[in-house]
Amino acid sequence: MSTALRLVASGTALLLLVVTGSAWAQTPATGPTLPPGAGREIAEAKCVSCHDASRLVAPGYSRAGWQGVLDRMIKIGVQLEPGQVPVLTDYLARSFPAKQQTAANVIVGDTRVSFKEWAVATPGAFPHDPLASADGAIWYTGQHASVLGRIDPKSGAIREYPTRVPDSGPHGLVADAAGNIWFTANYAGYIGKLDPTSGVITEYKMPDPAARDPHTPIFDGKGMLWFTVQGANMIGRLAPGSGMVKLVTVPSAHALPYGMVVSSRGVPFFAEFGSNKIADIDPDTMAIHEHVLPHAGTRPRRLAITSDDAIWYSDYARGYLGRYDPKSGMAQEWASPGGATSQPYGITALHDIIWYSESGVQPNTLVRFDPKSEKFQSWIIPSGGGVVRNMMPTRDGGLVLAESGAGKVALVTIE
Ligand code: HEC
Repeated sequence: MSTALRLVASGTALLLLVVTGSAWAQTPATGPTLPPGAGREIAEAKCVSCHDASRLVAPGYSRAGWQGVLDRMIKIGVQLEPGQVPVLTDYLARSFPAKQQTAANVIVGDTRVSFKEWAVATPGAFPHDPLASADGAIWYTGQHASVLGRIDPKSGAIREYPTRVPDSGPHGLVADAAGNIWFTANYAGYIGKLDPTSGVITEYKMPDPAARDPHTPIFDGKGMLWFTVQGANMIGRLAPGSGMVKLVTVPSAHALPYGMVVSSRGVPFFAEFGSNKIADIDPDTMAIHEHVLPHAGTRPRRLAITSDDAIWYSDYARGYLGRYDPKSGMAQEWASPGGATSQPYGITALHDIIWYSESGVQPNTLVRFDPKSEKFQSWIIPSGGGVVRNMMPTRDGGLVLAESGAGKVALVTIE
């Protein structure tokens, strides 16, 4: 790039910052054209900037469902005048109504599992992510109720810890070696640390107010906390000792950095849900290197990693399970049992077996994939699932699932 061009480019970035008052990725994103009707102008003006219009076209909701989406978008910073809300809700419900649901496709096999589910303490808390802690407890983030919850699976006792900052929107969570629970405050834009013994929460602010929508947190082997910042298109690194946060921007625009894993060599990888890419980040320099997946339509949402450092991804948009080998650059994909609209989402690896959930089939399923035999097996989630956005293994070879819309958390025992 010539110096003159560079100057123009940085000048434009500066102008955008001043005009919008925030550095969300507010440049228009490309995507499908919205259908005509009263409310289209509002949608075009207010809903096509951080993400493109495919986010509106794809899901399909009832009017109440769209109301819920708008409540969520308003919480993360979309400004709508009171009069615009009903017009836009009607427009979205009319243009993108709830879709016919795909039935679950259950594949039988030899593995036996059993589910135990608990309703979270606050109804409607929307348990977004689960965490199996070293002491055998199950934690969850209650995104809508702004709480962290802890379930004792033996007694069924549940304790919820409200955040100090109201409406924090706790989203992802992870435990450190000392047993503190770290979480991304999705709505309020900070990283929190809960000391479960004292119940005290410490808030770590972002060094840049533009870093809205902190999303998935994970620790690397050296104790650094990494997190994706989806809406702002950034990756963050927090040093727990000093509380210092460093942020870098993802090279691709509107990449929607999402799920994360750390390799055996301590390198974080993240999914770009806004594109067909997976990226790694140098733990020292924070330089980002993007890897392009073979299908343009792939939208990797969450990641899992096996002992061979292969990255597994749930291709939410195409209904595939994928394996990407960063060493060879080769990808392999398998159609998920529920088909093209099965929306594979929460995913993890347990003893090198891949487990994930299909969120686009009713009821939602838990799917097992054995990379050696390349065979699938699947089960219906008793509660229906309510979209399993994340899952993780327990210490003793089980799985924990957060069932957000069902308001439940599940423990899966594998025989
Ligand atoms: C300030 C940036 C921003 C703007 C503007 C914005 N969104 Fe979003 N939207 C996001 C982010 C970030 C996510 C992903 C986080 C999530 O799913 O909670 C998202 C996710 C979504 C989703 C998918 C989640 C779901 O529940 O299906 C829909 C639908 C959506 N937005 C609709 C809208 C509509 C309608 C508008 C206009 C009123 C809008 N967005 C404007 C940032 C934005």
